[in-house]
Amino acid sequence: MMQKLTDMHCHILHGIDDGAQSMEEMYAMLRKAAEQGIGRIVATPHATPGIERFNREKYDRALEDARAYCAEKRLDIEIFGGAEILYTDQTCRFLEDGRIPTMAGTDYVLVEFSPDVRYGSLHGALTNLLHSGYLPIVAHVERYNCLLKHPARLNEIKHELGVYYQVNCSSIIRGHDMRTRHFVNKILDWDLLDIISTDAHRAASVRVINMREAWLTLKHEFGEDYANELADGHLLFGANEENTEDAE
Ligand SMILES: [Fe+2]
Repeated sequence: MMQKLTDMHCHILHGIDDGAQSMEEMYAMLRKAAEQGIGRIVATPHATPGIERFNREKYDRALEDARAYCAEKRLDIEIFGGAEILYTDQTCRFLEDGRIPTMAGTDYVLVEFSPDVRYGSLHGALTNLLHSGYLPIVAHVERYNCLLKHPARLNEIKHELGVYYQVNCSSIIRGHDMRTRHFVNKILDWDLLDIISTDAHRAASVRVINMREAWLTLKHEFGEDYANELADGHLLFGANEENTEDAE
């Protein structure tokens, strides 16, 4: 049986970044999430420390709007706060000052890099985050050229540092180029993947909520237990429902 899914990377909050462009679009994304059996969403608008101000007021308001809509329409979705944080030299300080959110109030942070980040910079950034007490989840790990060219580095960072990997549902569904597909197969074969998430930006056409399809693909290829393991949110919320209360 498919467990309730948890989407930990989703640009659902309206009016903050390049995600949902209106309240209506956010509502449509929430309805879609509920249809697909998503029971928890960590809303992760882009945060770019030192580049653009993270608008806390808009973020808080949009979170409230999303929660109110779920309650009103009886959508069985819990919404948590978070951010997809571009790593800059100010990221650790902004996190320490509470100017940008961690994942659902935990020590986990969803961190992204430029696709052409150098391996040394990536390694150094993850090390800095760990030294500052955070647990980095690398957002869409299939997107960085320095790892695509040298997949063995995935093992290196994982085992040497102890970080977590997120892959987008669209990359699991295999709509991507051969290079990404080959890379994602490796992560799966090596059992290095921690979570799948939608990274959804839109209610329709492109970059949509597509978690159920990814779950079904994983189930078909690797079995139901593994599909659940990558989609049930236990990394942040623990294996049982009771644990969710501690999360925020
Ligand atoms: Fe994203």
